[in-house]
Amino acid sequence: MSELLQIGAQRPKAPRPEELTLRFSDKAVAELEALKTHYPDLKSCILPGLWIAQREYEGWLPPEAIAEVAHRLNRSYAEVEGVATFYTMYNTAHKPGKHMIEICTCLSCQLCGAYRVVDALEEKLGVKLGETTADGMFTIHEVECLDACDRAPVLQIGDEYVGPVTPDTLDAVLDKLRKTDKPSSVQLADSVVKVHLRDGDK
Ligand code: FES
Repeated sequence: MSELLQIGAQRPKAPRPEELTLRFSDKAVAELEALKTHYPDLKSCILPGLWIAQREYEGWLPPEAIAEVAHRLNRSYAEVEGVATFYTMYNTAHKPGKHMIEICTCLSCQLCGAYRVVDALEEKLGVKLGETTADGMFTIHEVECLDACDRAPVLQIGDEYVGPVTPDTLDAVLDKLRKTDKPSSVQLADSVVKVHLRDGDK
């Protein structure tokens, strides 16, 4: 089978319309309705709609979440899925761990020791980049420049930047996260939704 066909075979199936279970909370429905008034063309509401969904579906976008956004915005599943899978900040491949630690390895961070931090993270957590710890607590990812080069090497965790970090300061970062209740992907999605809403919407 060609590589292209193999990728196609792995693509998650969209739920049938009759299988669709809507999971948005009342708060999420109200937020989406407010956001819809911002855009004459609902196509433009797909991005904020997906952020609401990422919060409502515990930090990621399974096919059911994409289908719910498509349904609520009266767009096709394929169109919404295309947007969701284009942008790396939407988690479509799998549910991340409770805390997603993204480490920048671009030039400034790399020169300031980002790969030493990656090595230390992998050793402390027992996983490689892109993997989730067995207890579901942490997922680690490598990302491009976070536009915080003055804090290199820097991590993004939810809506917070942490840096500069060193292998020696990682334990404190991880300990703090273990005591944090709200999953970082949910926290980030909630913050982005708030940015999209106007004061009058809240
Ligand atoms: S290179 Fe890491 S934040 Fe810019």
